[in-house]
Amino acid sequence: MQGIFFPSSNVIFAAQHDEFAQVKPDADPSLSTDPIKSVYGSWLAVENSSLAIAEATNLLLLPGRRCSNGRPVPLMDPDWPKYVSDLRQAAQGAYKAAQTKDQDRILDAADALATACSHCHSVYREKAPEQGGEANRCVK
Ligand code: HEC
Repeated sequence: MQGIFFPSSNVIFAAQHDEFAQVKPDADPSLSTDPIKSVYGSWLAVENSSLAIAEATNLLLLPGRRCSNGRPVPLMDPDWPKYVSDLRQAAQGAYKAAQTKDQDRILDAADALATACSHCHSVYREKAPEQGGEANRCVK
C-alpha cells in the first residue's frame, strides 16, 4: 500500500492538474526520485504507475499474507477479491486514459481510481476506536 499503491496513485492524481504539463525533467533524470521528472517521466510515468497498480493487485491475492496487525488478508471473504478486481479495472482505465494524454479522461480515471481505493478502505482499513481501531483492520 505505502510502497506501490500510494506513490503510483499520486502520479495519476498529479496528471489531473494543469501544472502537470509544465513539469520539467530533473537535472539528471536517470537519478530522479520523482517519477514524473524522471527519464520515464510525464505521461509515460502516468502509464507506468497505472500498470504498477494493475499488476500489484495480484499481490493482494497471494495466499498466506498478513496485514500489519497480524490478521490474515481476508482472501476468503468474497468482497476482498471484488474490491481487488475493481482496483485492477480502475488502474487499467487510468492506463488507457494516460495513453490518450487527455486531461478530461484522466480526471474521470483518477476519480474511478480513488473510488476503488476508498471502497475497500472503508470496509477493511478505516476502523474507528469503537470498532476496535487498527487491531481490527482486515476484518469486516
Ligand atoms: C482490496 C482492498 C484495498 C484496496 C483496493 C486498496 N487498499 Fe489500501 N489498504 C487496505 C488495507 C486492508 C489497509 C491496511 C493494511 C494494513 O494495515 O496492513 C490499507 C492501507 C493503505 C495505506 C496505509 C495507511 C495506513 O494508515 O497504514 C495506504 C497509503 C493505502 N492503503 C493506499 C491505497 C491506495 C492509494 C489505493 C488505491 C490505489 C488502495 N490503498 C487500495 C486495503 C485496500
